[in-house]
Amino acid sequence: MTAINTVADYTLEGDVGVITLNSPPVNALSAGVRDGLALGVAQALADPAARAIVIVCEGRTFIAGADITEFGGASKGASLHDVQNAMENATKPVVAAIHGTALGGGLEVALTCHYRVAVPSARCGLPEVALGLLPGAGGTQRLPRIVGAEKALEMMTSGAHVPAPQCLAMGLVDELVEEGKLREGAIAFARKIVAEGRPLKRVQDLNEKMEAARSHPEIFANFRKANARKFRGFMAPEWNIRCIEAAVNLPFEEGLAVERKLFMELMTGPQSAAQRYSFFAERQANKIPDVPDDTALIPVNSVGIIGAGTMGGGIAMNFANAGIPVTLIEVKQDALDRGLSVIRKNYERTASRGGITAADVEKRMGLISGSLDMNALAPVDMVIEAVFERMDIKKDIFTRLDAICKPGAILATNTSALNIDEIASVTRRPEAVIGLHFFSPANVMKLLEVVRADHTSKPVIATSMKLAKKIGKIAALVGVCPGFVGNRILGQRQREAQKLMFEGAMPWDIDRVLYDFGFPMGPFAMSDLAGLDIGWVKENSKGETIRDVLCELDRRGQKTGAGYYDYDENRVAYPSPVTEQIIKDFVAKSGVNPRTITDEEILERCLYPMVNEGAKILEEGKAIRASDIDVIWQNGYGWPVYRGGPMFWGDQVGLAKILAKMKEFQAQMGDVYKPAALLETMVAEGKSFTR
Ligand code: 3HC
Repeated sequence: MTAINTVADYTLEGDVGVITLNSPPVNALSAGVRDGLALGVAQALADPAARAIVIVCEGRTFIAGADITEFGGASKGASLHDVQNAMENATKPVVAAIHGTALGGGLEVALTCHYRVAVPSARCGLPEVALGLLPGAGGTQRLPRIVGAEKALEMMTSGAHVPAPQCLAMGLVDELVEEGKLREGAIAFARKIVAEGRPLKRVQDLNEKMEAARSHPEIFANFRKANARKFRGFMAPEWNIRCIEAAVNLPFEEGLAVERKLFMELMTGPQSAAQRYSFFAERQANKIPDVPDDTALIPVNSVGIIGAGTMGGGIAMNFANAGIPVTLIEVKQDALDRGLSVIRKNYERTASRGGITAADVEKRMGLISGSLDMNALAPVDMVIEAVFERMDIKKDIFTRLDAICKPGAILATNTSALNIDEIASVTRRPEAVIGLHFFSPANVMKLLEVVRADHTSKPVIATSMKLAKKIGKIAALVGVCPGFVGNRILGQRQREAQKLMFEGAMPWDIDRVLYDFGFPMGPFAMSDLAGLDIGWVKENSKGETIRDVLCELDRRGQKTGAGYYDYDENRVAYPSPVTEQIIKDFVAKSGVNPRTITDEEILERCLYPMVNEGAKILEEGKAIRASDIDVIWQNGYGWPVYRGGPMFWGDQVGLAKILAKMKEFQAQMGDVYKPAALLETMVAEGKSFTR
């Protein structure tokens, strides 16, 4: 074995030259890795004893992409393009040996090898789209040449990590080798192709699938149409599509030129900057300054959930999906039966769409058992309480859990608003109590707000954060305060939306501005979807609010065909003259002169107070860092990913501008707009939240 540099070495294994990369954590294509590849390939080509070349990685994965931390910096080391040219034009067969994930630039390197082998557990993908980018190392031109335009469209615009057996089926991988025996398997494969005299297959020379796609130009228009909603606002999916069109319609080198140009447009644009920021923000959120990485974890091999309603059922599915058995507790048999049957229906719906198999449905249902007896929770490692939001009920449950659960069990509450310190105070083990705030629908929404109470222990925090990842959630740790971080900031936007309505803006104006900003829907459309009657009691309703009047008219939202909006039979929303009149009557009664409110004011009024509240949250130490707030808002509240999150966006807008506006609002409308002291300090010191 010869060391090529600090991250690569070269070994001659009989008649095969093996280049091994070892650059933890994910063998990203840093300057060192690119140099290692360039020198390694040169060495193998010069080695008369080597008849073929294998590229394999140490550690958890094959190359997982370009090194994102290098983006925007001065270029160093060998250029990836040159490395790829050397490999693709090599006079000896080059074989990529894939385990873990071959992603982005990693797959693009593999695509310049003549052959690719993988272990069955490996995955391949071009996930650049998630970073607001497109594959910039020839992937947009090479992938479609192997898998065809349609599959390339799907893979590149979804960023999916495709399992190796599927890659084999679509020709992206040439052979699967035995799990755990990648190196030997790849060397044996290399020998086989030499022995069989197989050609040096250059992906760029494959044109059959491109010719086939040329006679179906409609696939692009159809694909754009089918995905218009999903791609709304994002640049990267469209830029990826254009590259695939270029692959179909242009010679390889010209296609590459299109790819390079479009890649640079994205790379230097604001969307990718926001999306790359988000990638690191999500990972940063797992780092808790006073909870070291080596904090002992509590094994969680079984979970109890109290409450089989929408929330409890959704939470249960997360654990069953991850193979963790769940005991679901309800007070009445019919509620339990209903809860279990909703879970089954959800799984069956996923199965009917091909997301899981019928056997998966049974396996997951088999992991969920129901009980009416809380004593069934005695052996579980973690309990999550998901009953409705009443302190007395929660306290009663936690008192009983304290008596029932084994020592060391984690006692979690899914409360979205109540004081977790108060809940913990009824137990003799407040260190075991934590908030796990799931978002509805809990089996779908990515965010988990992990709420640390005064006495929550470090192992309980560390375990909850790790568990979140295991069940596919993106977690952020927050402190106890009304609404925690997400809902507390939401409260600002909701207040402004309501206030603006009393000043002359109509619900559909406010919704439109926020929708155009990139939210999936505005607050009024959201209320209609959720139901205006949540928390509304007919007997107590005295027409004192717009909501009261709407509900009294049986305009209780989408489910009754009318709410703030009117709905047609397809649930398409239309501005409602009835609602408009109700609002106008309220405004007239309040003595306010309605005025014309610009879109700009709507946006500033709804969003600047959110940034300001974020600053207050940081000031109070209820979030560890500004990027955690952004993680919460992107993953739980639909903040458009390509705008980074409220704090990142606030920085883009300019904190001085936001501060000036907050002061203006305060002078006009009072102290709810009082600027956060931290905002003042940051402006005075010329600092930003996220840079
Ligand atoms: N560059 C730099 N650092 C990277 C990286 C990359 N491409 N991918 C992962 N990392 C870092 C993470 O930041 C993290 O660092 P930390 O421990 O300091 O927080 C560490 O590697 C481990 O990452 P994860 O916590 O995400 O580990 P997982 O095991 O959960 O996931 C993974 C591994 C699936 C590889 C995941 O990290 C991932 O999806 N990475 C990004 C893959 C990607 O987007 N590749 C394309 C890059 S762009 C590109 O290639 C452009 C090209 O076309 C020219």
